[in-house]
Amino acid sequence: MPDISISHREMRLAESISRQLSNALTRRKLTPAFSDFYITRLAGLTPLIAVLDTAKLGDHSQYISADLLHQLSTDLGGLPVYLSNHSGVRYVVLLSPLPRLPRKVDLPADAPRGKLAIGVRFTGQPVLLDWETFLHLAILGNTGSGKSIFLQSLAHQAIRDEMKLLLSDIDQTTFGMLEGHPNLDAPIACTPRDALGLVEKAIAACDQRSELFKALPEHPQKLSEYNALMVKQGKAPLPRVLVILDEASTVLTALGGAKGAMGQALATLGWRGRKFGIHFVFAAQEFTKEIIGPVRDQVGLTLCFRVRNGQMAERMGCRGADRIPEGRPGLAISDRFGPLQTYFVDRSCLAGGGNILPAITEQEHNLFTRALADGGKLPAAKIQEWGQVSEWQARRMLERWALMGWLAKDVHRDNAFCITPKAQVLIANHPTSQTGSDRLEPSQTV
Ligand SMILES: Nc1ncnc2c1ncn2[C@@H]1O[C@H](COP(=O)(O)OP(=O)(O)O)[C@@H](O)[C@H]1O
Ligand SMILES: [Mg+2]
Repeated sequence: MPDISISHREMRLAESISRQLSNALTRRKLTPAFSDFYITRLAGLTPLIAVLDTAKLGDHSQYISADLLHQLSTDLGGLPVYLSNHSGVRYVVLLSPLPRLPRKVDLPADAPRGKLAIGVRFTGQPVLLDWETFLHLAILGNTGSGKSIFLQSLAHQAIRDEMKLLLSDIDQTTFGMLEGHPNLDAPIACTPRDALGLVEKAIAACDQRSELFKALPEHPQKLSEYNALMVKQGKAPLPRVLVILDEASTVLTALGGAKGAMGQALATLGWRGRKFGIHFVFAAQEFTKEIIGPVRDQVGLTLCFRVRNGQMAERMGCRGADRIPEGRPGLAISDRFGPLQTYFVDRSCLAGGGNILPAITEQEHNLFTRALADGGKLPAAKIQEWGQVSEWQARRMLERWALMGWLAKDVHRDNAFCITPKAQVLIANHPTSQTGSDRLEPSQTV
């Protein structure tokens, strides 16, 4: 049962707010046609809901303007007033203070594979994105607000998911520890010219993949469809590619702004990359209208850490980021999920190119090692038996591992699914297999 007991204090506050809302509308020559006021509990909050009878209002555009909401909030002594207008018009006023976000949350080692973990909301819920749907990311924030740590957490999740990386680090403060990492598809760019080279390389990869897609009679529309077809034919899947540009506005400005070579290249990559599993993230202290214009529509999520310029944050859909206090690095306003505490990763864990996040889970490690000891075959029936999962789950696991290139049908062994050399590298590099310094390097794929 949800807790719906309302305290006397909340009751009195609700009554007073209801009166003040009516007065505030009357003062502005609007009709206080409220049909209902009620208090509820929602995700740990206690909002008062004031329902307007839209039938009595006629044109209600004035009642839902951002301007009016702002004025109502001022009349209520600064209490935020939200609007819920998917069924009728309701004002929502919080009676309880906003719960606080934790100051620091470590990126969980068991975050689901194949998804991008961004951070936690104040309800404690993690925000997880699918690589396939998030498109590209825009990150804004002053120096010291948490951009670099966030970009590092993205890079490490990408490595865990066996993606290829193209990194640009003009200030050389973010990605030094990944220098020479086997997942890098090119050296880390330190000049605007080199950064442009990375984006051009990513566009060239789109061209290559476009040819590969076209050669298939099924005409796949996205990378996951293409990879599923490849696996069916016993061929290697293509990895996703993540391009991360730190200090992106420096790079853009140096190369002629939005209309210059870099602006054009990013706009091209923006719309082409999506289909081919090539994503980019660009981070900067400031975005001017001119710079953000051409890529705005391609960005699936904008995160705004602490910034000075409130208007810029608002333009990016992250209103209030200028009010984030200086001592709260990692706290960000997102355009899709509101405030978030983004995950923290420790620089010392990342040093030496090590993976903080093993690519395979404990369970996968155990099953694969057992299969190797048993001759290398891992059919669905064995997954079901050893992993103590349902037949359906076993089949899903097998499909996913085949897509990752960890299992493949072996024509010399009755076409049974067998552990691949690629999976053997991951097994050897898993923390529980590590006996000494002899890490295996992944063999280069595609
Ligand atoms: N998500 C986070 N949680 C807690 N502390 C953080 C977080 N991100 C950054 N910090 C702290 O803030 C400092 C500056 O962060 P950094 O990512 O280098 O900022 P920026 O790249 O925006 O200049 C870090 O050294 C770290 O101590
Ligand atoms: Mg930085």
